[in-house]
Amino acid sequence: MVIGFLVSYKSNLLSLSMRILENHSLQAYNTFGIDYKADFFAVVKSVSELRKLLAEPEFLRLPKLFLGGGSNILLCGDYKGLVVHIDLKGIADLGNGLIKVQAGENWHEFVLWSLNHGYNGIENLSLIPGNTGAAPMQNIGAYGVELKEVFVELEAFHIASEEIHVFDRESCHFGYRESVFKNIHKGAYIILSVTLQLRNDGLVNTTYGVITEVLNQRGIDKPAPKEVSEAVISIRQSKLPDPKEIGNSGSFFKNPVILRATFEEIKKQYADVPSYPVNGREVKVPAAWLIEKAGWKGKRIENYGVHEKQALVLVNYGGAKGEDIYKLAQDIQSSVKVRFGIHLQMEVNVIVS
Ligand code: EPU
Repeated sequence: MVIGFLVSYKSNLLSLSMRILENHSLQAYNTFGIDYKADFFAVVKSVSELRKLLAEPEFLRLPKLFLGGGSNILLCGDYKGLVVHIDLKGIADLGNGLIKVQAGENWHEFVLWSLNHGYNGIENLSLIPGNTGAAPMQNIGAYGVELKEVFVELEAFHIASEEIHVFDRESCHFGYRESVFKNIHKGAYIILSVTLQLRNDGLVNTTYGVITEVLNQRGIDKPAPKEVSEAVISIRQSKLPDPKEIGNSGSFFKNPVILRATFEEIKKQYADVPSYPVNGREVKVPAAWLIEKAGWKGKRIENYGVHEKQALVLVNYGGAKGEDIYKLAQDIQSSVKVRFGIHLQMEVNVIVS
């Protein structure tokens, strides 16, 4: 429901450009497609709009949730506060492959833009849902490539001081699905833009076995970046549900890093347990494998469940409640813990207001 220019009688400038919606459904703003409402909702298209919105006395004391593409959240109830959809747009080619992308640009469309402009470096990250502003939050990664490899810097709005701070690669402390924005600076910043260093050397990364398999099937032995992107798209489409059809948030859990000693114990019982080396002491085990072995793959409970083709993905078949999916995630955590002694960490941000 539009309550029109709620703030207009207080702030003429704001009323010119921004509508505040009351009791507004968030269904279109989270890829799980969960239908909860926000007390107040606004779309922000510039930093000055953001500043004006945050300065409104009406909203000063309210809890706030800043959303990009909503591809990494699970809403567990109506949001008793202000939800702000960050919709800053624009892609600037600064020369020599240095590209500055505004946070509200859809990530996959940006990947396609880069390929169409002759750049390579992010083709393996094709079809990852969400907006560019969220990409550094969790250092998105897929098929052997992580964002940090091409990352140069980002601009972020510091909510408390209203200053814009610049973070280079080092100050983001990127790790596997990690950055300072998920831990020490959690909730403190809104990412406004991301600058990446792309290349035009045509060199591709096909180290992830399944990419080579698809390229071989297609009779391609010297793939162009666009062909790698197409291979990634077909792999993802064959395994991962399209959020437009079945609500989901991609991988719900992180792949756990465990001690080699623990891994060897599991291996005694399950000779086929897959792993990726991390360092001399630790290995990473696919959470999907643990969840599948614990009997959850394809399990459906009414209108939600565990995806039948990828056990790491929890799905909303339509009309599910966030709390139910959260409870399912906790049940999966418990049973993996009981069976393997491993704690699965959730990758998705669970929002309880
Ligand atoms: N596996 C199972 N059961 C399943 C699925 C997979 O046992 O249902 C095992 C298989 O042994 C398979 C292995 O897990 O070989 C790895 O599976 P996959 O290649 O699908 O990758 P993943 O570890 O499950 C990670 C990322 C994905 C990313 C892929 C490809 C995380 C949490 N997830 O998944 O990222 O697309 O690798 O690089 O690291 C996302 O973050 O939303 C996401 C989809």
